[in-house]
Amino acid sequence: MLIFGSPALGSRRVSVAAPFFQAGLAGYSDYAMRAVARRHGCPLCVTEAMLDQFLINGGKGLDAARLHAGDHGAAAPIVGQLMGSHPKEIAAGAKILVGLGYDMVDVNLACPVKKIKKKARGGHLLSVPEEAVEILDSVMQAVGSLVPVTVKLRRAYDDTPEMARAFTVIFEKAMGLGLSGAVVHSRTVAQKYRGAGHRPFLRQLMDTYGAHAKSRHFVIGGSGDVWCAADIFKMLDETGVDLVSVARGCIGNPWVFEQARAFMRTGDPAELAKVPGISQQRAVLLEHFELSAALHGEAVAGREMRKFGIRFSRLHPRGDEVKNAFIRVHTLADWRAALDLWYGADGPGAPYEKTLPLEAFGGQASEECADECGEACGMAEAV
Ligand SMILES: Cc1cc2nc3c(=O)[nH]c(=O)nc-3n(C[C@H](O)[C@H](O)[C@H](O)COP(=O)(O)O)c2cc1C
Repeated sequence: MLIFGSPALGSRRVSVAAPFFQAGLAGYSDYAMRAVARRHGCPLCVTEAMLDQFLINGGKGLDAARLHAGDHGAAAPIVGQLMGSHPKEIAAGAKILVGLGYDMVDVNLACPVKKIKKKARGGHLLSVPEEAVEILDSVMQAVGSLVPVTVKLRRAYDDTPEMARAFTVIFEKAMGLGLSGAVVHSRTVAQKYRGAGHRPFLRQLMDTYGAHAKSRHFVIGGSGDVWCAADIFKMLDETGVDLVSVARGCIGNPWVFEQARAFMRTGDPAELAKVPGISQQRAVLLEHFELSAALHGEAVAGREMRKFGIRFSRLHPRGDEVKNAFIRVHTLADWRAALDLWYGADGPGAPYEKTLPLEAFGGQASEECADECGEACGMAEAV
């Protein structure tokens, strides 16, 4: 059991029943995806990064941030993630999230999408540590006595010694300011989603700060290359982090949480590789679609679910054909037809090895992931 929130600050304390969570994933981690993940044992979910201005301006941005029953509170805690450039604005955004009922607030200093109008935000703030620290301080002052505040970081802006120092400044200040934790993605911002993350960095971080962090009730999480349930435990073992972020590995595979929970309960490694059967997959695809349709309307859900279907297809024994069928989906009728054709008859899911490793997704899709992430955050690439 992990606890966020220090008794000294007097903020709400948030308990997390297992050492992993569903990461913020722009364009994916909406209420529909979170509900499916929770039903499969995910103990904590993060929203996609929300721009502070979208919340402050009200309208659609604010509406999208509103919470649903069963998606917040002690049994299903939710972290609202914020991104912004100005300390006052991001603090105002944090207050709005707390007012809406979010259990925790996370500040995104990790998104690699380019800055807009010469103002840094997301991961670009890692290159200007004073600005990053001002933002963390401002959010802490605004809501730190109410809810736990955390930060999402990358291991540095790039591989220069200057940027390594900047990371250290920000990380140490985050602890000093009384934040409740940090999740560190082991790639640099310059790396975007290209290549593997640098695991030894996380080990080094824990060796350097682990004991001190514990004494300050500061939870340290790791992110990067968690493609399946076994990878969660591999990261815990290799790095000693308190908590593991499951990101691309849970898109189209909510069973990753169920497998991890079963392994924790039984200690049986076979649990980590249990593949859901076809009718189990069909039930989840339908449930996800219905939740998405209730949230966005059927037309939008039809489009949204294509990208999920493509990821789900990895667990089907005829994955390539199923993937092509989902690529062609535009309407609800297409979606139903694809499900009837490919998920109509029960049978075993794809052997686990076939879906692993997912370097193909992680490697080739680097630029695609960054674009998807930026598009979903509503950010142009214009500087
Ligand atoms: C399409 C996409 C959208 C993402 N959106 C967010 C986001 O909104 N907030 C965030 O903290 N991280 C975001 N991330 C980063 C992931 O949470 C995670 O740190 C990263 O993908 C590394 O983990 P992985 O290699 O296991 O996927 C996004 C990643 C992708 C691929």
